[in-house]
Amino acid sequence: MTTTLIVVAHPEIRSFNHAWARASADASLGLGHDVLWSDLNSMCFDPVERAAHYPPAPGTGRFDPLKAQEAASESGRLPEDVLAEVEKLKKADRVIFHFPLWWFAPPGILKGWFDRVLVHGLLHDIDNRFDRGRFRGRKALFCVTTGASAEESAHDGREGNARMLLWPTAMTLRYMGYTVLAPEFAHGVHGYHPEAEVAEFEDRLRATLARQNSLIAEFDKRSEIQFNEDTDFGPDGRLLPDRPSYSKFIRHQP
Ligand SMILES: Cc1cc2nc3c(=O)[nH]c(=O)nc-3n(C[C@H](O)[C@H](O)[C@H](O)COP(=O)(O)O)c2cc1C
Repeated sequence: MTTTLIVVAHPEIRSFNHAWARASADASLGLGHDVLWSDLNSMCFDPVERAAHYPPAPGTGRFDPLKAQEAASESGRLPEDVLAEVEKLKKADRVIFHFPLWWFAPPGILKGWFDRVLVHGLLHDIDNRFDRGRFRGRKALFCVTTGASAEESAHDGREGNARMLLWPTAMTLRYMGYTVLAPEFAHGVHGYHPEAEVAEFEDRLRATLARQNSLIAEFDKRSEIQFNEDTDFGPDGRLLPDRPSYSKFIRHQP
């Protein structure tokens, strides 16, 4: 049985983002999959990692987030909201993230979800990351809306290459061991289309929702974002000269 976790980061339940997330859920349920749901805004998920989440043990000093996460997971004192998300991640074979691009990145609530839920010690540590990440064999997909048009979001577009903007988020999941699939975009999603173009815009959104059934049905055939393997790097952590570069973030020339 396939289990899919859908993580939505958008404050309005009547938004296109939510409609698209529900389309992912419906398509998955239609295939007989189990669906888990994390609507971060409706859950009022607290995205701010801070000492108050970890009532101090006597004698502890300054707040070290990595050590606090590790100690809390070892002593069974992880915050309830984090624990609930960790349990969903453990069950999920697939994680589908639905979010708009806000200031060239996912909304802060999703960044904070990563900061808090990807618990150091429990879900990753220095021996369990990248090729040896605990989530290897599992897949993640981003379904992303942009206000900018497809042209403005292209490799030479003035809003910056949307695929590159997602690289740090993809790398977060790669660090955890996930295979990260090529993102799906809906561009030009905003409420400022001139009256004459609204019908075409709404048709475009409907078509995106309608395509979600085939996207989910072909999930396992979808192309993947390429990352270097652990063995592509030398002992100093730098890309070996004869190994491929898949991204401008990790390349041979500065
Ligand atoms: C705070 C904020 C920042 C935004 N930044 C960007 C951006 O960097 N790039 C972009 O293409 N659109 C940007 N937008 C537009 C959103 O991506 C757009 O409103 C969203 O994709 C529409 O989806 P929805 O109809 O589900 O809300 C921004 C919107 C907000 C509210």
